[in-house]
Amino acid sequence: MSAEQGNSYWSVVGRQLRKNRMAMLGFRCVIALLLLAVYAPLLASSRPFYYGGPEGSSFPWFKDLFDRIAVPQAVDLFFNLLLVFLPFATVIYVLVRRSLRRRGRWKGRALRRTVGVLAAVHVWIFLGIYLYGWDKVSPLLHLLSGVAVALGGILSGIFVVTANAWMNSPAGFALLDGIPVNISPLAAMLNPAWKTETAHMTLAAFAATGFAVAGIHAFMLLRDRGNLFHRRALAIALWVGGVAAILLPVSGDFNARFIARHQPAKLAAMEGQFRTERGAPLRIGGIPDVDGRTTRFAIEIPRALSLLAFHDPDAEVKGLSAFPRDEWPNPVPVHLAFQFMVASGTTLSVLALLSALFAWRRREWLYTRRFLFAVAACGPLGILSVEAGWVVTELGRQPWVIHGVMRTADAVTTVGGLAIPFAFFSLLYLALGISAAWLLRREVSASPAFPLEEQGGREPG
Ligand code: HEM
Repeated sequence: MSAEQGNSYWSVVGRQLRKNRMAMLGFRCVIALLLLAVYAPLLASSRPFYYGGPEGSSFPWFKDLFDRIAVPQAVDLFFNLLLVFLPFATVIYVLVRRSLRRRGRWKGRALRRTVGVLAAVHVWIFLGIYLYGWDKVSPLLHLLSGVAVALGGILSGIFVVTANAWMNSPAGFALLDGIPVNISPLAAMLNPAWKTETAHMTLAAFAATGFAVAGIHAFMLLRDRGNLFHRRALAIALWVGGVAAILLPVSGDFNARFIARHQPAKLAAMEGQFRTERGAPLRIGGIPDVDGRTTRFAIEIPRALSLLAFHDPDAEVKGLSAFPRDEWPNPVPVHLAFQFMVASGTTLSVLALLSALFAWRRREWLYTRRFLFAVAACGPLGILSVEAGWVVTELGRQPWVIHGVMRTADAVTTVGGLAIPFAFFSLLYLALGISAAWLLRREVSASPAFPLEEQGGREPG
């Protein structure tokens, strides 16, 4: 028996079942019947999938799937949820199990099962309740299911960024003649960069989403200033995005100081620093000139880079020239993306502080044309900064895919036939992007109208 196989009750049952061919056949038949039952509404539906009439097209089957009148029984609703989420849950479960099994050494089974089942149950139940449970569960349960989905999103983001942090500061293994030995997945996950990077990305996600949502509501308020729905939504979005935006420069400072010690070539590219010098200046703007080994047109604040990176105005900052030429990241995109991210971060924090000041001293100023216009114009900044941040992180690490261990050129796969999966996934994501944009547009244009006058001209709360 392999070390992977346990002796729990269910392991023994599973092994006995697999030994008996007839029992396995029966088991598979039961699964097939269950699937048939779950997917019966799809195979033999009484409602059309698509209907094109004089009033336009509609999709009755999809529309009725979670309609309270069409599906009055809780048990039917449960099976409809199963129908929609079973494929997603199965894919997640299989992927999580497989990836944990490959990483081996974590006493496989119990953990794999737990994480796999939790991931599946999470998507399946909470997202289902949140999306389709508005008038079917109590407001508290609905709110809690939204919180659970958000927590799941944060956690999954943390796991993804942790993998990236490992590429920036690899840990949890030793190299013996180029072969990794003494592998510890836990130590790899808890690599030195994971805390700073995941904190920054989580805050960035809240700031980007908060300001994008605030931008949309500000835009709608510019058309209809008295709409209470948009006023409340703007206030909530500014709170969420604003708190994150104020914390982002602080967390960015931690990131930069970490990079100064662990990835000095990335810091040099970010800052357009070519020469190694003590008391290095901070450059605002400017364009790195690689041939001339200088950054042109920048405003320089003397000794500020040494001060920010090492908390000492006379500290030495390594320039790109301290590294072999074939180990330089390209400073042009890295510096420009970094400047864009910091400029946007500063703008968003100023906007957040102004919103807090207005909300505290004079609420009505939040709804002046000028302020609404500023919020609407800054709506895309957070999302653009997220892209810029990833440019800094990824291009700043070049030519390494795993910093100091493996070059990107050596990581390129030699496997052929990848054009079809590449085209498939590109099309899939394009389709998902278009449908997400279409759904968002529909939600925004269908937003309810609550004129302020109906509340006696006053905002409640
Ligand atoms: C305002 C000051 C900011 C500073 C000083 C700053 C600093 C940094 C630094 C140094 C990195 C590189 C981290 C690494 O490679 O390990 C980074 C990455 C990143 N930044 Fe910023 N940042 C700021 C604002 C923002 C804003 C406003 C956003 C988005 C809303 C953002 C999103 C990102 C993202 C997504 C990454 C890549 C993932 C990560 O490293 O967490 N940053 N930032």
